[in-house]
Amino acid sequence: MNPITSVYDLEAMARRRLPHVIFDYVHGGSGRELTLQRNEHDLCALALRQHDMRDVSHRNMKVQMVGDSAEIPLAIGPTGLAGLTWANGEVEAAKAAEQFGVPYCLSTMSICSIEDVAEATDRPFWFQLYLMKEHKVNESLVRRAHDAGCSALVLTLDLHVQGKRWADAKNGLAVPPRLTLHNSMDILSHPRWLLSMAKSRRRTFGNLQGEVKQAKHLKALTQWIEAQFDPSFDTETVKWVRRIWDRKLILKGIMHVDDARLAVDLGADAIIVSNHGGRQLDGAPSSISVLPEIADAVRHRIEVFFDGGIRTGSDIVKAMGYGAHACLSGRAWLYGLAAQGKDGVLCALTLLRDELSDCMALAGLQDVCEMPEDVVTAQPPLAA
Ligand code: FNR
Repeated sequence: MNPITSVYDLEAMARRRLPHVIFDYVHGGSGRELTLQRNEHDLCALALRQHDMRDVSHRNMKVQMVGDSAEIPLAIGPTGLAGLTWANGEVEAAKAAEQFGVPYCLSTMSICSIEDVAEATDRPFWFQLYLMKEHKVNESLVRRAHDAGCSALVLTLDLHVQGKRWADAKNGLAVPPRLTLHNSMDILSHPRWLLSMAKSRRRTFGNLQGEVKQAKHLKALTQWIEAQFDPSFDTETVKWVRRIWDRKLILKGIMHVDDARLAVDLGADAIIVSNHGGRQLDGAPSSISVLPEIADAVRHRIEVFFDGGIRTGSDIVKAMGYGAHACLSGRAWLYGLAAQGKDGVLCALTLLRDELSDCMALAGLQDVCEMPEDVVTAQPPLAA
């Protein structure tokens, strides 16, 4: 078997193992996917400046993220439906994060529940909240996260409505996936995935069972999201969440310096500069392009995290050079999970750690917490 040399190998393995309907959900973005493409493209367009006459035999990659230790400056970001890529996927990913020593964030829209993850792990994890119209559902989710010992609540702010993902609509993505005339060849030709799904403890959104009536297919899912998710939330809602959650609060989806300043005023402990991996506002700038302005404005008052397009360790250096305290990953670890379960997540994290370590050595960087600003420089994009 060929060695796995990068996250792109895990992506190729995930593409082979998953039916198209699931792979497209993980891989894709909204609309024309302009923002999705910009995320990776703009990270690639940045260059790294090196200093060669420095002792780099000891390099520190450890950081704290809202008080939780991280072996590398990276947390496992929240992704819905991870449990449709591997049996009990969220639990497997949380175990990998615990073993490796990085924070794990569970999505509201996951297949495994808050309680499933709490039962399987000892390390406190983070819970990501989407705001529902019914306050009692929000209250219940927050209480369950508290009871499960979650150390941070990640409040996602960029999903007032769901970005249109054309591939999902065409593929008829359903939760749980349904065998139809249209997709039967696709699903039946991936027996390893089918077998894995047969071993899953749950088949639909674990956190929402008993909380809200669930939707069973994409058309219904989109309508269901529109019916359940609260498009009216605003600063008052964030204040309300701040009042009922007494641990660390992280606001996710910040793309404007005004919102970053507001996050400080609202008492958040951290923000995530993020455009949801190009899955929401298609046409939004890449998250790396807005990071320097936001970091300059608030990083001495609040922790600034970054996500969007991280596929190698050098991407982490670039984000930190642009002012991030640490990063989150979406697709990189999800490709690992889809390819090899818990081992695949560990593989993705190990690849990113080793690349980060090499990148630091070659650029003359000793401590990831003391990243000089001039390590990153903009370059004309490579010809396509
Ligand atoms: C996501 N993301 C996301 N974010 C969130 O707050 N709640 C969620 O349930 C999800 N679900 C989700 C599913 C999938 C399949 C993906 C790829 C992403 C966004 C995610 O947390 C993160 O912001 C992006 O994935 C970061 O970009 P990269 O690392 O995927 O390029």
